Amino acid sequence: MQSSISNPLRLGLRQERVIPPQCLVIFGASGDLTHRKLIPALFELFLQRRLPSEFAIVGCARRPWSDEEFKEKMRLKLCDKISSHEQEWTKFTEFLFYEPVDLQEESHVKRLSQRLIEIDRLKATHGNKTFYLSVSPNFYEGGCKSLKNVGLLDDPIKSRIVIEKPFGRDYSSARKLNKIVQSCANESQIYRIDHYLGKETVQNILVLRFANTIFEPIWNRNYISNIQITSSETVGVEDRAGYYETSGALRDMLQNHLTQMLAVIAMEPPGKFDPEAIRNEKAKVLQASKLANEIEPWNCCIRGQYEEGGNYDNPLKGYRDENGVGKNSTTETYIATKIFIDNWRWQGVPFYLRTGKRLPKRLGEIVLTFKDVPVHLFESTIINPAPNQLIIRIQPDEGATFKFEVKSPGSGMRSRPVEMEFSYDESFGEPSDEGYVRLLADSMLGDPTLFTRSDEVEAAWKLYTPLIELMENAPWKLPVHKYESMTWGPPESDQLLAKDNIFWRRP
Ligand code: BG6
Repeated sequence: MQSSISNPLRLGLRQERVIPPQCLVIFGASGDLTHRKLIPALFELFLQRRLPSEFAIVGCARRPWSDEEFKEKMRLKLCDKISSHEQEWTKFTEFLFYEPVDLQEESHVKRLSQRLIEIDRLKATHGNKTFYLSVSPNFYEGGCKSLKNVGLLDDPIKSRIVIEKPFGRDYSSARKLNKIVQSCANESQIYRIDHYLGKETVQNILVLRFANTIFEPIWNRNYISNIQITSSETVGVEDRAGYYETSGALRDMLQNHLTQMLAVIAMEPPGKFDPEAIRNEKAKVLQASKLANEIEPWNCCIRGQYEEGGNYDNPLKGYRDENGVGKNSTTETYIATKIFIDNWRWQGVPFYLRTGKRLPKRLGEIVLTFKDVPVHLFESTIINPAPNQLIIRIQPDEGATFKFEVKSPGSGMRSRPVEMEFSYDESFGEPSDEGYVRLLADSMLGDPTLFTRSDEVEAAWKLYTPLIELMENAPWKLPVHKYESMTWGPPESDQLLAKDNIFWRRP
């Protein structure tokens, strides 16, 4: 973990809000997310001196650990990250507590509420509580009900719940879950997390669009020919087959992370920088979005599954050979689709979204391709002048590139494309924080701007309903094409764009 404290430039440029006294309760504390993301993010906040001294983290899971065992488990899991911060880690562990809790058992939650009273007194956390549900979605309903029944959600100002994705499996289950959660807490207490919204570069889209005058006038159907949104990973399913087999790329990435990026790129300017104003615009644009062909959805979506690949030194298994995956699994590890947005700004502009595992590069990017010039006055070094492109790099190497034509040196009048670069790292001399750092801080600050509201989640599920229904009722119409590991998905996904005379950008 890179400590920001050591970087004076970072402290100079940063403007951070102070997190109030707080008790953060993590359900699912023995799970992967806790030691991979949550505790590292909290430790990063500690290193940045953003955690108040009146603070406590209470890990909860079914395992019968003691406080000390929990601390030790976390230390072992994070040892690489804390090796250069041993002293700080020791101080940080003073915040850590553990309580064995089965969320399904109300008596356990009652016992927890007693323990929280003691911890509140000990750490002076002023009764402020954030409950983080990092558990299987099957426990969301029971968990919220138990918290409500023992009175832990009674104070709408001092208590909130953070809920991990996936929020529902489809439109109707998301609606049902929303109703249940909203019967336990006010919407203002509910923080549905999508860690992509915590990424600096996703937030930067708002600043790029609404803090500059040059982009907004051309950010529409008059100037933009198409938009591509890509999130690719080199990793396979790893040890998450149990979850992934029930999810697949549509539910795991497309419905949430990619669709949130779509919303931020395509939303109208909000009237003010206010959580509800922003979320209203995001919800509106998602409600106006639809698959390019809702009647024949198989014509606007390609699914794929990785096969073996790699090389002699690093052979990679095919998805069906991964631990815990069925030999005949038809779960998609790749999905690409085409979307239109039915509004004045975007009518007729295709948005192509793709995501997959075991692709050649780990990458998140949004590419806005502008329309061709009406008349080609000059010769080009390539067959036609390349259209202008704005490439927003979400990760890694966060930044943006603008591609435009310039005159090639010499006596002729030939044009060639060049690039203008912005890199976060070069401009600010620091890597951005992990999304979880920002989102954990925001949830404890009570700032819901970067969390998805119930109507947004529902609209995002509704958008993909024709595909989900097809996958469930007539899967043969949406076959899962094979692709070799470490290639850019099945060749069929190129056809999806080729029909429109467009190509995926090969980063
Ligand atoms: C998670 C998905 O939400 O996002 C994972 O469940 C995926 O399957 C991960 O690997 C990708 O996140 P990031 O931040 O590494 O792009």
